[in-house]
Order: sequence, then C-alpha cells, then structure tokens
Amino acid sequence: MTSSRTLTLLLLAGTVALPAADTVAGGPLVVNDNARTATVVWIVQTGELSVKVQGAAEQKSAPALHAESVTLTGLRSGTVYEYSVPGREGLTGSFKTPPAAGQPFEFVLYGDNRTRADAHRKVIAAILKNSKPDFIVQTGDMVENGADNSLWPIFFDIERELLRKAAIFPTVGNHERNARDYYEFFQQPAYYSFTWGNAHFCMLNSDIANVAPSEVGRQAFWKEQTAWLEEDLKKNQSAAFRFVVAHHPPMSAVASRQEASPHMKALIPLLEQMHVTAALFGHDHNYQHYLKNGIHYLISGGGGAPLYDVSKPPEGITQKVVSTENFIRFRCDGKAMHVEAIDTDGQKLDAFDLSGAAH
Ligand SMILES: [Fe+2]
Repeated sequence: MTSSRTLTLLLLAGTVALPAADTVAGGPLVVNDNARTATVVWIVQTGELSVKVQGAAEQKSAPALHAESVTLTGLRSGTVYEYSVPGREGLTGSFKTPPAAGQPFEFVLYGDNRTRADAHRKVIAAILKNSKPDFIVQTGDMVENGADNSLWPIFFDIERELLRKAAIFPTVGNHERNARDYYEFFQQPAYYSFTWGNAHFCMLNSDIANVAPSEVGRQAFWKEQTAWLEEDLKKNQSAAFRFVVAHHPPMSAVASRQEASPHMKALIPLLEQMHVTAALFGHDHNYQHYLKNGIHYLISGGGGAPLYDVSKPPEGITQKVVSTENFIRFRCDGKAMHVEAIDTDGQKLDAFDLSGAAH
C-alpha cells in the first residue's frame, strides 16, 4: 500500500508541468460592469515566438497571449470595489458599479490610439489629470492590427493607470480586424448595451467590412444589429439620456471621408425616431461636433493615431471641428450633463450641455 502510493506520487511528480514562467502583458481591466456583476481581466504572456525569413538575419518576435479573468457576482450598485490578484505584482485596481438613476457620474470618451505611442501616452496623461471617470467609453482602433500580438502589450502598458481605475466599455474599430484577441481581452459580444445611472448606451460594431467574409453575411449582420438597436432603444425610452456609440461616424469634416460610411448615415432616421441624445464615434483622428435635428454627433478619434484634416465641415450642422489629440469628458449631476472636449494640454476645445428627457 505504502509503496504503491509512493509510486503514484513519483509518477505524478514526473508528469506535472512546472508553473510556466509567464508574465503579465496587460491589465488589470474591468469589463461588463453592471450593477450586479463585473469581470476583472488580465492578460498573460505564456511564451514568445521568433520568426524570420529562411536565411535572413532579421527576426521578428511575437508573444503568446491569453486572458485570465474572474467574474464577480452579487455586487451592489453605486459601490467602489478594490481588487488584487495575489502573486501577480501590480495587478491591483478599483472600479465603481453603476449607480441608480438620479445619481451623479462622470465618464470619458476617446479612441484611435494606434500607431503613435507617444501621442497615446499624452492623451492618457491628460485624462488622468483632468478627469476622475467612473467608466471609460472607447471608440476603437486601439492598435494598428488587432491580430498582431506584439501590439497589445504596448497598448495595455500605456493604458495601465487609467484601466486600473475605471471599467471600460469598448466598441470595435476596423483596425481590430474583428480579431479574436479583441473579444478575448474585452470579453464583449460584437454589440451590446449598458445603463449607468439615468443614461443608456448602445454599443455597435460598425466595422461591417470585417464582420463576415461574404456580402450576404455582412448584410445579415447589419440587419440583425439594426433590429437589435431599434428594440434596445425602444425598451430604454425612460432613460434621461440615450447614447449610441460606434467606431465609424455617419458624417465627417475629413475631405476624403464624407461618403465613407453610408451604412452609418442610413441609421440617422432611426436615431431621430428613438430620441437619441448623442451619438459618439471615432475613426477620424480629430475632434468633431455636429448638431442635427436635436441630436449631437461627436467624433473623438484623436487618441494617438496620425491626425486627419477637418477641411470640409458639413454646412448647417457643424458646431466645432479641430484637428488635434483629444478626449471628451461627460459630467452628469444626476439631471443635467455637461460635456467638454479637452486636448493634451488640458485646454478646452468645446463645451456644451446635454439636456436629458425621458420619452
Ligand atoms: Fe478606424
């Protein structure tokens, strides 16, 4: 009996792998932050692949990444939670759960962080200096190529201090390329909605080109998402503020992009019919603000990507267009919402109020 047990233990010792020398490559971040549940995610590098053209000297390396996560349940609304991952240095943070309607809150909107790490870093520093967001709305194009594993650790390194302080609600951009990494790291479906206090947010996947390999598949996705959007907005007419968020804007001051997203332009009648307060976008690397038939259209794509011109602002609806890095801060006192677009020097680019109304 004793010898048999010893043998078993020896065999096990021989077959059990030693803990991998993995390292943290991103996070922590908090996603799916609802009043009752939230998920804390961190990204782990378990190895690295080196590759080169046969015979060539130059080689490229890419990390093997995967997300680890814990979903918390039974949370209380409007409460700040602190968390830590024992044994993982630096994996500590906090987040707030959504409060009841009528409570004050603050959030920031930004996106298009790809390509220029130094500019991205300045935008995050400006957010940390000028805002204490309860949550973050990200408009997509976080990295130049969502399928390139070497880029995500750079993104998460720059975002670390912000993401450990507030939950993030992302939309997918065309540069995420509908890649598996995006869905694994942010643990979101292609489109979804959430409510924070008296505000409701519909988060769309506007990157129709990458959602399916065939035109039939792309049309089917768009039809399904649009039907969901209509239904979700209908169900949330009692919210004081309704926001629709997507990467691609329906209008643009960028000369070469005015007719670039007809599928988004076609949504405008639905947004008007459903009393949307403001529609929030990225994709254009600048700041743009339009007001059309009572709906504010904001574009904040100045998160680090190379800036675009604003040389052709649409007539009759343009409130403000500026080609500079920026983020937008939304402050709600429980009733009214004050909005400011802010550049990396902390200078105000634009300021206005949104009036909330249930329907
Ligand atoms: Fe984009």
